[in-house]
Amino acid sequence: MKSDKDKSPRKPPLSRRSFLKGAALTSAGAVAAVATLGHLNTADASAPALPDGVAERLGPGPAEIQLSINGHTRRLAVEPRVTLLRALREHLGMTGTKLVCDRGACGACTVHLDGRPVNSCMILAVDARGHRITTIEGLGNSDQMHPVQDAFVHADAMQCGFCTPGMVMSIAAALEANPSAELDTIRHSVAGNICRCGTYPHVFAAALKVARASGGAKGKT
Ligand code: FES
Ligand code: FES
Repeated sequence: MKSDKDKSPRKPPLSRRSFLKGAALTSAGAVAAVATLGHLNTADASAPALPDGVAERLGPGPAEIQLSINGHTRRLAVEPRVTLLRALREHLGMTGTKLVCDRGACGACTVHLDGRPVNSCMILAVDARGHRITTIEGLGNSDQMHPVQDAFVHADAMQCGFCTPGMVMSIAAALEANPSAELDTIRHSVAGNICRCGTYPHVFAAALKVARASGGAKGKT
């Protein structure tokens, strides 16, 4: 027999949509969204402060915003619910940043926000205003690759490539913070980047090659 407690109406489960909607109501909520669901490397409540009252003044329709991306100011119109990942890919055509899980679990969408790796699928585009955004397109290009990109090519550190931009961004941020990082630090830097093809040994080898060129790095891959 069911108790009175069992008969009480159940609360609907929290969906990602309702979570983001609620989180967008306050800047503190947006910080919490990043801290709670964001990249393992960046689950840090000390993330850059967001402008007060941003979300309340925007939406529900598209709002004109400008973002600083790879050293350029980009203007676009997005609804407040649009993530930074969707804004990059669908509004600006910057598809180097990959959409895989779209829920903060795989790291494929990693970009740098003020130099720190974050999951762009867990950040609203409107909350990225006023921050310095770097994507894989801004790290280097085929004519002038970033050392981590170059090392990935030479270490054959990719198969299907879906995880690769996120891996590169995470390792580039780790080596920027600690150019002579050792293997444990490198492993930790990609703890939130999932590779279903199992390229980790080659990824570590690539990262260690860059670190060793800086005079550091110890540990076997
Ligand atoms: S697509 Fe953002 S973490 Fe997977
Ligand atoms: S290379 Fe395929 S998921 Fe990593």
